[in-house]
Amino acid sequence: MPAPEVAESIQARVEEFEARTAQEILGWALAEFHPRIALAASFGAEDVVVIDMLMKLNGGARVFTLDTGRLPYETYALMEAIRERYGLAVEVYFPQADAVEVMVREHGVNLFYQSIENRKRCCGVRKVEPLGRALRGLDGWITGLRREQAVTRTEVRKVEVDPDHGGIVKVNPLADWTWAQVWEYIRAHNVPYNKLHDQGYPSIGCAPCTRAVAPGEDPRAGRWWWENPETKECGLHVAKRTSGQVVER
Ligand code: ADX
Ligand code: SF4
Repeated sequence: MPAPEVAESIQARVEEFEARTAQEILGWALAEFHPRIALAASFGAEDVVVIDMLMKLNGGARVFTLDTGRLPYETYALMEAIRERYGLAVEVYFPQADAVEVMVREHGVNLFYQSIENRKRCCGVRKVEPLGRALRGLDGWITGLRREQAVTRTEVRKVEVDPDHGGIVKVNPLADWTWAQVWEYIRAHNVPYNKLHDQGYPSIGCAPCTRAVAPGEDPRAGRWWWENPETKECGLHVAKRTSGQVVER
């Protein structure tokens, strides 16, 4: 965890950071916190943009991923492509084997289709608990969150203090980027990307919980498509509003 005065000064500079570019934000974050900061990558389009920027700023920048065990083939293929392109040793976190064994014995391997409760149970075991381990010992984490991604993400700031993970710093350099900007960057810099994006998948998570969307459909319509937009979060991103209301991102 960063010193309390660091968190305090960041709180005071939230608006100032909003005026900076993604590269400036990442440069600042690395100068301030490396090696106690890492990118959380699911290898979606946003994350590969951030990986490319990080590798150009500092080849030793850290990247971790939460391998739920249920990822699509194409995501694993991309992890390999990234490894080859940048020589990057991604830090992979798996869920705890005994917790998965108990869960699937009790509720079945495809429990997420049965109820929101079971879907959150699965995300809890396969993503949220491993995220806690990944963040332990870090002063900050970087994500590919963008404000326009979802109704639950409109409040995302470029630099935040994350009260849900012990007050560490959360850096979202693409917070104000559009989907078009993400693809302009990928093409301009020839960044490897997930081939599912070419098959109508704007947002990619676990294979059984992600499907393609029709043209014009909401970009997150293919994530947990059987749920309402307000519940479509797995618990990785949770924002506490000043009203005390807890809003998952
Ligand atoms: S999710 O919460 O709905 O799954 P989404 O797929 O939009 O999130 O990704 C938002 C950001 O969360 C990504 O840019 C990445 O920083 C982080 N993230 C999501 N899934 C993972 C994962 N499996 N491993 C590491 N980071 C992840
Ligand atoms: Fe489980 Fe689906 Fe959540 Fe992946 S997205 S952890 S398979 S419920």
